[in-house]
Parts: sequence; structure tokens; C-alpha cells
Amino acid sequence: MNKLAFPILAVLADGKFHSGEALAQRFGVTRATVYNAIQSVSTLGITVFSVRGRGYRLPKAVTLLDADAMVQACGEYAPWFHVQVLAQVDSTNRYLMQESARGVAHGTCVAAHIQTAGRGRRGRQWVSQLGGSVTFSVLWRFQCGAAGLSGLSLVVGLALVRALHSLGLTEVQLKWPNDLLVQHQGQWHKLGGILIELQGDMEGPSAAVIGIGLNLEVAPEMRASIDQPVLGLNALSAQALDPNVLLGRCLSQLAIHLNQFAEQGFAYFQDEWTAAHAFHQQPVNLLLANGQTIPGQVLGVAEEGSLLVETATGQQRFNAGEISVRSAA
Ligand code: BTN
Repeated sequence: MNKLAFPILAVLADGKFHSGEALAQRFGVTRATVYNAIQSVSTLGITVFSVRGRGYRLPKAVTLLDADAMVQACGEYAPWFHVQVLAQVDSTNRYLMQESARGVAHGTCVAAHIQTAGRGRRGRQWVSQLGGSVTFSVLWRFQCGAAGLSGLSLVVGLALVRALHSLGLTEVQLKWPNDLLVQHQGQWHKLGGILIELQGDMEGPSAAVIGIGLNLEVAPEMRASIDQPVLGLNALSAQALDPNVLLGRCLSQLAIHLNQFAEQGFAYFQDEWTAAHAFHQQPVNLLLANGQTIPGQVLGVAEEGSLLVETATGQQRFNAGEISVRSAA
């Protein structure tokens, strides 16, 4: 990104007009340099209105991420985290995987204003927008190896549901293994997703990079590029959510849940998770990677987090990564 692009965006974040001349003066550059910086912002898919005689403005005000505000919102769990905010990155997960291999501390959290190549589950892309999404990754180190981490992704989903419930969004539920869902106008909509990438040996120690993407507002052009109904959290809240408070709440719930998980595994959360599952005992269609669809009825989740489904051929158990679940209700 052009060096001036983000500093200019930070000024425009108030949603008001700023003239090219005022911006040029503020940063000690020419108006042409400001113009070029604005052009580079536009190439990132960020709309900047330009009106002759008035200047530039964003379509609406944006609350920028702020590491101090996030840490403050973590309350008593603040000491667990080291928060870093990046203006732009390809993927916070890719970045933190690299930093983890270099030995950065347990509890490092990297949040990004702009993510240009967000990674989703099952090789999908994750699209997000400045001000319309919260995208961050957290590094959590475990003594055990990857084999001892089954159910981790479900526990992360539960932590996020608790964080959202604590902000009054009590209708948010989970879809196995860890999508955040809400029923809206008679249809299930995805509010956010989780991608966990692991490093380390099977015997341990291991490191998990926990990537979280939450929609705040979904623009129509973004909706069109996603293959399932999606909704922003702000649609569920009387007031627009403050992304720093949201992120801080997520971090504090992650600290609580991940510490408990490290001690007791998924079995400790099995009942609580089941109670938050949108499709518990519901008819579903299971989409396999080979294109096959298996109809069934959800029976529950097993002690290690696999999904138990009654199908035409009897009870079957599925691991995360094998299937996608769709409601058949
Ligand atoms: C999903 O497919 O549901 C998981 C999406 C996870 C997206 C988040 S955004 C922050 C972090 N960085 C990434 O590249 N992906 C995750």
C-alpha cells in the first residue's frame, strides 16, 4: 500500500470531508501525492468519495482498531495478551504462523484493518472490508501435541458465542464445527468464522494460530461474492458495536476457555457446546468434499468434538474438515 494511504484513511475515518489541500498540508506533501494515495486506497476496494470543492470522504465514519482500547476491554485478562494492529496484511493467520515459527510469545494477537488475502476453512477465501469486519489471529501455545487438541476449534467457537452473548447478542448460536450463526428472516445466516492452523509435533509442544473473522456489516457487493447467506453483527444490535470492545471481549473469553481446555480438553465443554448448537437434533444435509450429500439427523457431539449423525446407514461420526453441514429443516 502507498505509504500515505493508511495515514490518510485514519483522517477520513471520521466520515467527514477533508480537502486535498488540508490533507496535503497536514502530511507536508503535494495535492498530487494525496491524490495518488487516495487512488491506492481505491485499489483495495475501499470507496472514497471525491467531490469537487469539498474534498474526500468515506461513505461513513469508521471506528479504527486501537491496541490500547482492545487491551482495556480485556479487563482482568489483559495480561494474557500482546496486541498488535497492522494497517494492512495479506492474512493475519499467515503472518502470525510466520511470527510463531520465529518464537513470538504465547497470547500474541494480531489484528488488521485491511486483509487482502484472508484464508477461510477448506481452502476458501475470506473476504472482509475496512470497518465492515473484524479480522484477527491469536497465538496460543500448548504443552501437548496436535493430537491432544481435538475439539479446540469447537471451544474457540463457544468462547466467541459467550463474548457475543455478553454484548447482548444472545441469539447467536454455533454450527458444527465452529461457524457463528443467527436465524434472520427465517433463514440461517453466517456471522463469522474461525480458522485454526497448527504448528509443532504430534507429541508436543504445539502452537495454534486461531484466526477469527467477524462480520459487522456486509456490503451488497461483498454479499454477492459469498456462497451462503451472511449477516453483520450490527444487524443484531441496537447500536453499532465498537470493534475494540468486541475484540477485547473475544480475547477475554478465549483466555478463559483456552486455559480450561488445556487442563480438561473438550469433554468439559461437551454439554455447554451442545446447548449452543443451532442444529442439535435437527435434520441436516452433510456435504462431502467429493460432492456427495448425505441426509441425516444430528445426534450430538462426541467427547473429542466429532459430530454424531443418524443417517440411512446408521450412526456415523464425522471429523472437522471432512464435511460441511447445511440445515435441512
Ligand atoms: C471460515 O472459513 O469460516 C473461517 C474464516 C476465518 C477468517 C479469519 S480472518 C482473520 C484470520 N486470518 C485469515 O486469513 N483467516 C482468519
